[in-house]
Amino acid sequence: MSQYTGTWSEAESSTYRDLSAYAVPRREEQIGLIVDRVADADASGDILEICCGEGLLMAALAARLPDATLLGFDGSDSMLEATRSRVPGDRLVTRKIDLADRSWRAVERPLRAVVSSLAIHHLDGPGKRDLYSDILEMLAPGGVFVLADIIRPLNPAGYGIAAKLWDSETRQRSLALDGDERGFALFQAADWNHFHHGEPDPALNPDPIDKPSTLTEQLDWLRAIGFIEVDLHWMTAGQMILSAVKPH
Ligand SMILES: C[S@@+](CC[C@H](N)C(=O)[O-])C[C@H]1O[C@@H](n2cnc3c(N)ncnc32)[C@H](O)[C@@H]1O
Repeated sequence: MSQYTGTWSEAESSTYRDLSAYAVPRREEQIGLIVDRVADADASGDILEICCGEGLLMAALAARLPDATLLGFDGSDSMLEATRSRVPGDRLVTRKIDLADRSWRAVERPLRAVVSSLAIHHLDGPGKRDLYSDILEMLAPGGVFVLADIIRPLNPAGYGIAAKLWDSETRQRSLALDGDERGFALFQAADWNHFHHGEPDPALNPDPIDKPSTLTEQLDWLRAIGFIEVDLHWMTAGQMILSAVKPH
């Protein structure tokens, strides 16, 4: 999660694939929670993952919902290729998109669910709000939106706590997976812990690649747009999972 000005590149896709086993806190727990929430949706239709990355969540959705058509959208060719290799067969449809562009946000059939993990923070606040409106339009009545993402702390203490917790989660995963701290060292070398950077200074970095919004503003936007059952389910290390339902 670099602070560099600009957009996500293939170099960042490659770095992320090297790091993600360590850098995503309690990843298996997060994926299980998201899949459960989608499986419980009171709607039928396809499932869209926005910025599907290397396809781990998509593979878990495919295993749990064997009849569903899965739409995996992302801006990175190598990530889309990784997703296709993880979810073989003809029920996965991939598409290269620019997250900020609204032209891809129309689907042939209403969706049972829209999910996204660790990507929507690349949009600024108005961009997120527009995306959430477009997701509401794409969902079938009763369909669910499940969002996992980093959030913006409200003050320097919040940044410090999130940074410390994320380092701790990553160190623990590194030790648990490999018995050593090499995975944590990769995470540090890539300067991936967004929260160590503190609140961005617009004078120094007018268009940072990471633009997380606070939890409360995102909950408020979702309710104001017309979602119901807007709820926070999980949170640690400045990262959260929420879901919201389109009313019948
Ligand atoms: C941190 S990775 C998360 C991947 C996956 N969802 C996960 O949870 O492991 C961010 C993903 O968002 C995609 N991405 C970032 N900015 C994007 C943009 N502007 N348009 C489309 N995709 C973008 C990247 O290609 C990458 O797959």
